[in-house]
Amino acid sequence: MDFIQSAEHQLNPFPHYERMRETAPVHYDEQSGSWHVFRYDDVQRALSEYATFSSRMGGDDASGTGQLFAASLIATDPPRHRQLRSLVTQAFTPKAVDALAPRIAALSDELLEGIAARGSADLIKELAYPLPVIVIAELMGIPAEDRERFKQWSDVIVSQTRTDSTSENHSGTNMEMTEYFLALIDQRRSRPGQDLISTLLAAEIDGQKLTVPELLGFCALLLVAGNETTTNLIGNAVLCLAEYPGVMDRLLRDPALLPQTIEEVLRFRSPVQSMYRVTLAETTLGDELIPAGAPIVAWIGSANRDDRHFQRPAEFDVDRGQNRHLAFGHGIHFCLGAPLARLEARIALAALLSRLPGLSLEQGAHLERMESTIIYGLKELPVRWQPA
Ligand code: HEM
Repeated sequence: MDFIQSAEHQLNPFPHYERMRETAPVHYDEQSGSWHVFRYDDVQRALSEYATFSSRMGGDDASGTGQLFAASLIATDPPRHRQLRSLVTQAFTPKAVDALAPRIAALSDELLEGIAARGSADLIKELAYPLPVIVIAELMGIPAEDRERFKQWSDVIVSQTRTDSTSENHSGTNMEMTEYFLALIDQRRSRPGQDLISTLLAAEIDGQKLTVPELLGFCALLLVAGNETTTNLIGNAVLCLAEYPGVMDRLLRDPALLPQTIEEVLRFRSPVQSMYRVTLAETTLGDELIPAGAPIVAWIGSANRDDRHFQRPAEFDVDRGQNRHLAFGHGIHFCLGAPLARLEARIALAALLSRLPGLSLEQGAHLERMESTIIYGLKELPVRWQPA
């Protein structure tokens, strides 16, 4: 699918999705051998019908990123998935996550304090990027001095989704990260703390501890899932508000509108545009008969713009009553971190609105999407405001 690689389609893939929903809603791409799915109902089915659409990463040929995640819950099917998920759900319930609110607010304030007097900045670099890394690193008990490395690994892993996953840089990073987490796991085994890794080490499924590859898979998954996605939710939200200043004004008057605004950002510019599956059996999707063992790409970003489910889907409308977007997936793999991502976005945006008055995009800013067809977010977000 060469069109997806071209720069103009990167930032605005939505007209292309619309064409595909109308003309080829379930499309076989000969070049990659994958089936691409564009309509809401079909995407929802592919994401949730696990007996037919497996989450086994990369099918039987897991390599690079695939290997790292192979033993993690995002890449397993029931019954193992249920067992693995039950170990971490406690750490991510809305109640557990709400307890992090004061810390997230303090971090947001600290990050903005550093730039408030400047009057202009790249908001990705100064806020959207560091905030989720620090939060997830603290949850996992990663020492503060290792945060920068942590972020770099996360970037390389995300980039593996778009290039040759066996390149030297990537396998070097995978090795470095694996060694780091092995050492951390060893350390926590001898000196447990209050962090997530210590909790996972203590956890048992039917009397059995998690294996080391399973523990590593969790670490790698949280590292990526917890960072890039939330960074881009915050960045995409600021982009939407800059494009729709009327919404920004309303939020300034009534911050209670923030949660529904965030839901609309999730629908309108979904940080995760697509997810993979592989068919376990022959099945019909739309009008197409798909063989067993076929790779599937479910286009969440397209489902969220399907006019069969959303009125005027190309409009950013924070007053939509029901907003059943698929930005966090659907069914048993529904995003574990959704309460955390929503909370971080809410706190970060509230802080931005109150601390950076007159926030707007830098005039003439050239916005570029980060190089991934799966993740939707900006490389940089240059903004200005009235300095404090
Ligand atoms: C805006 C931010 C986020 C978005 C858009 C997002 C999106 C998603 C999506 C679409 C899935 C479903 C994958 C599938 O069906 O195969 C998913 C799963 C997952 N997410 Fe998120 N995510 C976000 C933030 C987070 C955060 C902050 C964390 C953790 C701290 C997290 C952890 C996970 C995990 C562990 C899974 C796998 C769940 C399972 O397989 O049972 N996510 N996420």
